[in-house]
Formats: sequence, structure tokens, C-alpha cells
Amino acid sequence: MLPNVLRPNATDHVPVLAEEVREALAVSPGDTVVDATFGAGGHAQLLAADLRGEGKLIAIDRDPSARAYFDRFRKSTAVKGRFLRGEFSLVLEQLASNGVRADAVLFDLGVSSMQIDRPERGFSYAVDAPLDMRMDPGSEPDARELVNGASERELTSIFRDYGEERYARQIARAIGRRRREQPIERTGELVEVIRSAIPAPARFGEGHPAKRVFQALRIAVNDELGSLSAALPEALELLRPGGRLAVISFHSLEDRIVKRFLRDGEHGCTCPPDFPVCVCGHEPALRALSRRAIRPTRQEIAANPRAASARLRAAVKTDD
Ligand SMILES: C[S@@+](CC[C@H](N)C(=O)[O-])C[C@H]1O[C@@H](n2cnc3c(N)ncnc32)[C@H](O)[C@@H]1O
Repeated sequence: MLPNVLRPNATDHVPVLAEEVREALAVSPGDTVVDATFGAGGHAQLLAADLRGEGKLIAIDRDPSARAYFDRFRKSTAVKGRFLRGEFSLVLEQLASNGVRADAVLFDLGVSSMQIDRPERGFSYAVDAPLDMRMDPGSEPDARELVNGASERELTSIFRDYGEERYARQIARAIGRRRREQPIERTGELVEVIRSAIPAPARFGEGHPAKRVFQALRIAVNDELGSLSAALPEALELLRPGGRLAVISFHSLEDRIVKRFLRDGEHGCTCPPDFPVCVCGHEPALRALSRRAIRPTRQEIAANPRAASARLRAAVKTDD
């Protein structure tokens, strides 16, 4: 029997932009599908249904608790499946260097409900828990180390760049003052410090006052932008010509990385713009499926508020 915290249930995680992802990836029977962010397996279930019992689904997640969801997924489908635990850029690279070729690769970035809703993981500002926020409990640093070890200047940049927090500097200073007395160990203590640093009127607008700082710390702890930048070229390498890539992002900085990667891949040539003719000989590596990012409908956002900031971008790998 799985311990209670790991036992999956049907309401774990609602897959975002589910129909749009299916349409973008156009999975057919016999395909090899890589779900680089398996989570609770919501998207994987839908993509496996499109395989109609023929083909393979390779699931990747750096969170070991995703394995329990993968075991449930395996029981519910006839397709062949493998779960590979690890950082997606590294796993994708290993797959490609072992000669695996995929027809579809999906990234659904960020955290899953199974992580947010488990207080002991320390992702949530709504419950008091140890400051952790690691998707992979074996990785370093955790949020406690970052909050107590980074300089006030580093914390300011993290809160401003990843959280777009207007009071980044004031919050970093308040953290500095508090930790000189004693280390900040728990999410509740951090929420209290954030509240104390924000002017009273701002504490009541724009959602929970700790929301942006928690998001920023999570992105930094898990090096989410670095992982994404490293993983996109690996995903392209892994795809067969004609294979498809889909990425759902939830943060403007993630979306910018994806947008640039697709734009550069479509462009091909890397010669400086003032060169009269191309000397690099690079051909376009992919074709974006739409100019603009695909956004959730109002109905989807009403049914699943987590979808509100989602953006989907997708592309087809061109022939070699
Ligand atoms: C938004 S959830 C995916 C939810 C999934 N699509 C579903 O429908 O259930 C993102 C998942 O990706 C994992 N993840 C995020 N970044 C990762 C990385 N760099 N390497 C491996 N897994 C990662 C997280 O642990 C989390 O389980």
C-alpha cells in the first residue's frame, strides 16, 4: 500500500490546454511519445489514448513521487511505458545518445498540484511547513539554504526577476534583518517576514502578499529557466524529422526562452545580420505550428484557475 501522501487520486492534477496539446502533437498509433514532465500523468493519459494501444510512452520527472502516478498510468493503458527519474535535459540527452528517436515531446512546465498540495514539500505559502520547494528532494540548494545563504542583493534579483515583486529590495532586507537574529526555517516565518516588509495597503491587493516571492524562490531553487534552456535543444535532437515538440509555460521568462528557441530554429542561419550572403550553411531545424502562443479559453480558466497564465507553443522538426 502506498503511504497516504503518495497515493494518487483522480483529482490530483487537471491537465492544462489538454485538447490543444493533443492537436499540436498529433500522436498516431505506433509513435514514441516522450512526456518530459510526467507529474500526475494527466497529459500522458490523453496522449496514450491517441496511441490506441500501439506505441511507447517514455515518462520523465525529477520528482520521485511521480513514480506512483506512473505505476497507476501503466495499469490503465496497453501502451509500453518507461519511467525515467531525473532532470529532463539530462534524461533527454541520454535517450538521444542511446539512439532513441521520438515522434512527440511534451513539456508542461512548473509544479504540479501533487507538489503544491503536499504541505511537507514547502511549495505553498498557505500552510506552515519546512522551507524546501525542491522538485527533486535530493538536489541542492533547498529554499531554506537560499533564503538564509544568498546575499540580499541576490535575493532582490531573484524576487524582482522571477517574481516581478515590486517590493523585492524591502523584502530581501527584511529577510537579512531576521536571519541575523535566527535562520528562517519555515514557510510561515517567511510569509510573516514578507508581510512585515510590504506597505500595509499593498498587503491586500493582487492576491496573497507572499505569492510572487514563493514563485521566485521555487524557480531559483529548481533552476527552472536553466533546465528549460538546456532541455529544448536536447528535445529537438531526440525528435525524428516530422516529429513534434509542444511546450506549456506559465511564466513570461519561460515563454520567452521557448519563443526564442523556436524563432532561432526556424531561422536556421546564424550569420551576423550584416553578412551579404549566408556562410554558416545552417538550415531551419523546425517550423512553428502557430505564430502566437495558444492560450486557454475563458471556460478552461473558469474550470481550472491554474490554467490562467498558461501559454502553449509547438513546432514540427524539419527533415534533415
Ligand atoms: C505541471 S507538472 C506536469 C503535470 C502533468 N502534465 C499532468 O498532466 O499531470 C510539471 C512536472 O514536471 C516536473 N519537472 C519540472 N521541471 C523538471 C525538470 N527540469 N526535469 C524533470 N522534471 C521536471 C515536476 O516535478 C512536475 O511533476
